[in-house]
Amino acid sequence: MPGRADTGYLHAVKNGSVNLDDALASFAETWSPRIVARMNDYDVRIAHARGDHVWHVHEDTDEFFLVLDGRLDIAMRGDDGAEYTVELHRGDLYVVPRGVTHRPSSPGASILLFEPTGTSSTGDSHEGDLPPHVDSTVGHPLDADTGRS
Ligand code: NI
Repeated sequence: MPGRADTGYLHAVKNGSVNLDDALASFAETWSPRIVARMNDYDVRIAHARGDHVWHVHEDTDEFFLVLDGRLDIAMRGDDGAEYTVELHRGDLYVVPRGVTHRPSSPGASILLFEPTGTSSTGDSHEGDLPPHVDSTVGHPLDADTGRS
């Protein structure tokens, strides 16, 4: 399609297959998921992670995280309000259960998310103001807003 030749899109998507390394290289924004595939009613999304996300909760859906590279910490609050954190490294996956308030953070990572289409990256509600490095989105198309033209 016109305008796509110089974006990362054509490099990342060939004959319907998606190369995750190329897809990740096609954008730089942190905590701004790109949708790389849809399966039934679910999105497969990828994101660059760096710094703290915001505390938030998805009341109606679990949220799947897979660390493609780097390290991701997911802080959560138990029913008693006590905080605990899971530390994830390359190849580790974790599912945050629905209704559990959580805050991902990272010194630098690439992650893959699997969640129902339409799920907000900042949940049904979040705490505090959104910092500029955190995008509140239901996921962007891979070929949009890559910062290239
Ligand atoms: Ni979440």
